[in-house]
Amino acid sequence: MHVTLRQMRVFEAVARHLSYTRAAEELFLTQPAVSMQIKQLEENVGLPLFEQLGKRLFLTDAGEEMLRCSRAVSRQLKEAEEIVEDMKGVRRGRLQVVVASTAGYFAPRLLTAFAKEHEGVTISLDLTNRENVLRQVMDNETDLAIMGQPPGEYDLESEPFMENPLVVIAAPDHPLTGSKRIPLKRLQDETFVVRERGSGTRSATERFFRKKEISWQYGMEMTSNEAIKQSVMAGMGLGVVSLHTLELELEAGRLVVLNVAGFPIMRNWFLVHRKGKRLSPVAQVFRDFVLERAGEVWQMPRVA
Ligand code: PGA
Repeated sequence: MHVTLRQMRVFEAVARHLSYTRAAEELFLTQPAVSMQIKQLEENVGLPLFEQLGKRLFLTDAGEEMLRCSRAVSRQLKEAEEIVEDMKGVRRGRLQVVVASTAGYFAPRLLTAFAKEHEGVTISLDLTNRENVLRQVMDNETDLAIMGQPPGEYDLESEPFMENPLVVIAAPDHPLTGSKRIPLKRLQDETFVVRERGSGTRSATERFFRKKEISWQYGMEMTSNEAIKQSVMAGMGLGVVSLHTLELELEAGRLVVLNVAGFPIMRNWFLVHRKGKRLSPVAQVFRDFVLERAGEVWQMPRVA
């Protein structure tokens, strides 16, 4: 059945008034134009929708059915119109954010604070490694990304919004715990538990030691900060992690931050999207929210 929205609108007006003349007046059409639309609709449907008895017009059973359907369609169209209007604002809409795994320690707090102020917005958060974050940004699969400084060779817009200090962690009973200004060279005698290749923490640490000409010994490689912290707690060696990952362990006294000369390695968190990408209204508001309010929503863990 091929029915146009215009035919439905004309039909609905005639059915409501049970008069071609009054429907024509309402729709600013001529009476023959209205009759023509109804005739075409009846041909498309294959049944008469009205019957004329004397001077009065009645809906046939098929007409009643058609009226029910056309009202449902109008309702749905109106709803769709309202939703799209909302999407143009920030009352509704979807926000997709992908973050490098270490940012997973604070990104949920930012998103929660944002969600409380924008209740109609549906949010999805993907935590993955730096390489995947970059791929998703380049393939336009996400609205915004949060990561360490992105590499220069990609065509990206990146804005720093918060510091990301990398610190050396140890178990509380480690011989270096409590020492002041441990010389960097002293770390050459220690073994580190490290993040996987592709991790921003890993590459920043490697760069730092290379620059300082320190030979860095590492044993186990792990793909999560949690696993590194657990191994360091268990006495596997030292670790270098972002201070953002240490909120609970420092509070509970399960890990300590060593006082090493030259540390912390100071990095930054960046909000990133592809150059030229048109951010949705929701994404724009979230971007402003992060740039202005991240420091208030999330407090950096404190080193005792
Ligand atoms: P990560 O850190 O990849 O070590 O989790 C995030 C980043 O530095 O981009």
